[in-house]
Amino acid sequence: MSTVALQERRSQSAGTDLIIRDALESDLPAIIDIYNATVPTRVVTADLEPTTVEARLPWFREHSPDQHPFWVAESGGCVIGWLDFKKFLPRCAYRGTAEISVYVDEKFRRRGVARRMLANAISRAPSLGLNALVGLIFGHNEPSLKLFEQLGFQRWGQLPGIARLENVERDLVVMGRHCPSRQAIGGLPALPTGTSNQLNDCLSLMRTLMHYRQEPIHSALLKIRNKYSMLHLDVLLLIYHFAKICSGAILEVGAFIGGATIAAAFGVRDSGRQKKLIAIEPGGSVKHKRLGTRNIFRDLERNLARQGVSELATVIKGRSFDPAAISAVHRELGSDEIALLILDADAGKRRDIECYRDKLAKGCWMVIDDYRGGDSNVKSAPSRADVDALITEGSLEPLGFYGWSTCVGRWRGQ
Ligand SMILES: C[S@@+](CC[C@H](N)C(=O)[O-])C[C@H]1O[C@@H](n2cnc3c(N)ncnc32)[C@H](O)[C@@H]1O
Repeated sequence: MSTVALQERRSQSAGTDLIIRDALESDLPAIIDIYNATVPTRVVTADLEPTTVEARLPWFREHSPDQHPFWVAESGGCVIGWLDFKKFLPRCAYRGTAEISVYVDEKFRRRGVARRMLANAISRAPSLGLNALVGLIFGHNEPSLKLFEQLGFQRWGQLPGIARLENVERDLVVMGRHCPSRQAIGGLPALPTGTSNQLNDCLSLMRTLMHYRQEPIHSALLKIRNKYSMLHLDVLLLIYHFAKICSGAILEVGAFIGGATIAAAFGVRDSGRQKKLIAIEPGGSVKHKRLGTRNIFRDLERNLARQGVSELATVIKGRSFDPAAISAVHRELGSDEIALLILDADAGKRRDIECYRDKLAKGCWMVIDDYRGGDSNVKSAPSRADVDALITEGSLEPLGFYGWSTCVGRWRGQ
């Protein structure tokens, strides 16, 4: 029987160092410890006695990373949770369906660990050849039922009184959901069965772009793009637009030589309001036919000055996740919240969001690059997995995909 041990609360997030990776045999003692701790609760598993590493080795080896993976959540070098996929039923017709189980160490519950693993499972399912996931959960395990419901699972069945725990007959609930590829167009995730507001927002962004194409800002940003940016002109126009309309600060991660920074600065300037614009960039050199540079940071500062926007932007030299950069951003923000977040650094999109999550305004506009990419873009697969998981768990409301590979949306997380 599949079991789920978790008590999640949306408002708390997992640590910024949380990673989800394929489990190794050497993780098995930790996996079994986490499992055994749930046995006496009689809420999670139908096992009545603790098990052992030796007894579970064959079960562990039945998993395979490309079809029925076994993942662990690791924080601070310790395994704090796990999720596994297994065949739902052995007959061939069920091969597109897997049963999943999620367990989180008692000490790390209520921090979003299970939510993250579950969201990852949903977004990875299509690439594993799965179009449906089910979880078998006791009817009295309310936290797990609630979490599954929040991630789009529905009650597909209820088996009344089929488990006997401490002389009480307990129900087993079959929670199920189909996975994105079933409704997707061209491999992109379907928009969640959104509200008409979401649809209106998508259309309104498209209209906004049409409008800007007739405005002087279009040719101004075309020049900026050609000289300083790897992003598509439409994306620069949207960054300009969000910077102009947002109420709050703007944070850009991965400024490079300033293309998007300048677009945002123009938006701030044209809003006629005071807004903080903070850009993080570690510097370095890049070989590129159009935009190659031997000193990214020097060119960034020089380009901002040339465009007359140095005074509007604070540039922080460092990497997004360096404690010094995080403190500098917090210092600069003061009590302001981030109303526009631009992520165009490396593949750690989730990591960057976690670093600044506490400062994200409700409804913060998000521009996240590298959602798609050709074979040469090693950032795109992990970036897309992060974005899909954020969409699946309801933290990111997608409002479209623009240019070559940029996802645009709004922050709906807690
Ligand atoms: C693709 S470029 C950004 C392009 C830019 N948005 C534009 O308009 O052309 C990525 C930049 O992110 C920077 N970068 C990489 N990892 C970073 C991190 N962890 N924090 C901040 N910047 C990072 C790189 O140095 C590089 O300049």
